[in-house]
Amino acid sequence: MKKILIDCDPGIDDALAIALAHGSPDLEVVGLTSVGGNVGLEHTTTNALCLTEFYGMTVPVARGADRPLIRDPRDASEVHGPNGLGNVVLPAPERTPRNEHAVEFIIDTLAASPGEISLTAVGPLTNIALALRREPRIAEWVREFVIMGGSYTRGNNTPAAEFNIAADPEAAAVVFGASWRTVMIGLDLTVQARATASVRSRFTEFGRFKQELLSPCLDFYGGSVPYRAGDGPPIHDACAVAYVLDPSLITTVPARVDVETHGRFTSGMTVTDFAGEPALHNALVATELRQDAFWDLLTDSFRTVASS
Ligand code: BDR
Ligand code: CA
Repeated sequence: MKKILIDCDPGIDDALAIALAHGSPDLEVVGLTSVGGNVGLEHTTTNALCLTEFYGMTVPVARGADRPLIRDPRDASEVHGPNGLGNVVLPAPERTPRNEHAVEFIIDTLAASPGEISLTAVGPLTNIALALRREPRIAEWVREFVIMGGSYTRGNNTPAAEFNIAADPEAAAVVFGASWRTVMIGLDLTVQARATASVRSRFTEFGRFKQELLSPCLDFYGGSVPYRAGDGPPIHDACAVAYVLDPSLITTVPARVDVETHGRFTSGMTVTDFAGEPALHNALVATELRQDAFWDLLTDSFRTVASS
């Protein structure tokens, strides 16, 4: 069974990524770390705690960075709602976050199981950059490092930049500059994972999970300004977890990725070169999703979560 540590900013698609990981018999979630992103850190941390309780998970939750390395925070509450989960209000959590900061938790957890844990980041990369600065050897200790973030075509937060990178470009630059090979599950891939009406028709008999979380979240998310005109909102973050579960679901291509941190119009752009010296490649960039198999996996995991 593979082990995964998820750094996240729940967030509607984050919530569904966590459900995918928890519901899979092939993954063990060893912890969640929160970061400010879609909404402020107090909400993303509370949501992580509420979601673990709602899903019946007992994993540790550690609170992380409340702001980017050097910039003012920006959020995506217009997509995820003021509390990050659309109009959903889950019961207040009984659990509390660990005393340890997320950065310490990431370092300690990876140090304790070198080569075993897939570190998966689906929010702004602030915690990961801080962890790399404090302990560069985490780049050797991960089994693999996977992000939802970036794009080799266009952005969503700005024409050039995807939200998770745009929110903290300096952190993303640290992360892509580290000695590991980042698996970049960017927008080019995640827009292939749209929760269309036909996909949603498969989510039957999911009880409270569907009534109290899945349906209201997807209704809110799909009705938000960026997605209301499309044929279903992309479940971005679940794609990163799906890659960890089964890399054959996603085609990846080696590339060099550098993060623009200075551009007036292009800050946060992930400048991607599929050509060039292979020795300079620092990333595996996702290009194509096996959609039917992806939704099969997600539906099976959701069914398990719903019935637990
Ligand atoms: C990413 O930004 C956030 O709004 C989502 O949770 C996802 O991680 C998509 O650009
Ligand atoms: Ca996210």
